[in-house]
Amino acid sequence: MPRDEGRAMKDEVKAFRKPQQPKSKPNKKLATKVRAVPNIVKEPEVPTVSLALQQRLLDLFQQALYAGPDSLACVQEVKSHLYKRDFASAFGKEDYLRAYALRWSAGRTLAYLDLLCGEIGDVLSESLKQSASNRDDEGEDMRAAAPKVFCFGAGAGAEIAAFAGWLDRDESKRAMTNLKLEVVDIAAWDGVVETLTKGVTSPPELGKHASDAARESVEALIQPENFGVSFMRADLLEWNEVIVKGKLSGVRLVTIMFTLNELYSTSLPKTQSLLSHLTAASEPGTMLLVVDSPGSYSTVSINGAEKKYPMQWLLDYTLLGSRKSDTPAKWEKISSEDSKWFRLPEGLVYPVELENMRYQMHLYRRLSDASG
Ligand SMILES: C[S@@+](CC[C@H](N)C(=O)[O-])C[C@H]1O[C@@H](n2cnc3c(N)ncnc32)[C@H](O)[C@@H]1O
Repeated sequence: MPRDEGRAMKDEVKAFRKPQQPKSKPNKKLATKVRAVPNIVKEPEVPTVSLALQQRLLDLFQQALYAGPDSLACVQEVKSHLYKRDFASAFGKEDYLRAYALRWSAGRTLAYLDLLCGEIGDVLSESLKQSASNRDDEGEDMRAAAPKVFCFGAGAGAEIAAFAGWLDRDESKRAMTNLKLEVVDIAAWDGVVETLTKGVTSPPELGKHASDAARESVEALIQPENFGVSFMRADLLEWNEVIVKGKLSGVRLVTIMFTLNELYSTSLPKTQSLLSHLTAASEPGTMLLVVDSPGSYSTVSINGAEKKYPMQWLLDYTLLGSRKSDTPAKWEKISSEDSKWFRLPEGLVYPVELENMRYQMHLYRRLSDASG
């Protein structure tokens, strides 16, 4: 099947498309003010995440991965590999991985946190808490009973930082207080995952001029006993049903963020198989959250004729079935948006210029086999 050449880069770029606004001189200083633009599309203006928490997450990426302007020297090379859909090269070197995470994961973290702190997060926390209380009733200790989230293609760290930010330290009734993340990725993200996990579970570094009071009060974003992350390097497209079943045991939420289109473009049949294994392995009630760049298409060959289908259509076809088929749907769609904006608030500071982000989002829940 011919690949949809050149889309990946456009997707990456589109996802963080520069807002249309009057040109301003780029700030060459170390700390760059993050660009924010007035909302073009009318959306509720209620800020869901505090500026302080967003800044804390950007600081996390900066402290973990930024060692001066040289840290970003290879961003153009990474971009050019992505443009050519050469993912193996784009994610093939430690320097590239760190630059990618600095440049893209930090902004995505804020977008994912914004999503988690909205209605989607309410649905997810209800489902995750339910699973935790069931396991608690079965006599497991707190750590073992923490709800499990499985993140496909998440080595670059955005999901890790966003879920850490989502965990509530005030133990309000709505939010989650502990989580266990299983991250799987084909590239060697071990170092980035380890540094970011350490960053969210340890007190942040304070500058040498910090006061004694600040040093005494400084706290980790989340306590290590409330947030476990394990990283697995593997090619998801080579997993068979038995492997997926083993890996997904006890998992209540699966995320596929900015990865599904990449999987489809590598191999559409293998991606369909992976989603079928996921369906077979998921217990009723398991949630699946898919985020990707809007308007992603994959080419499918049916009876020798090639046609382009939207990623969302392919996903629905596999998870919900077609109207014509007698097979009952295995998943229900809880929420779906073809195009959603995350707009950066004003006042954030980060050494790399970040941009507003547009994405599509789909949330599914696994039905019981009897319910069809
Ligand atoms: C565009 S990045 C998205 C990273 C992250 N999920 C985010 O939202 O920022 C796609 C990720 O999927 C991973 N990936 C691509 N194909 C894969 C495969 N076959 N198995 C596992 N991971 C894969 C890549 O290594 C990369 O880390």
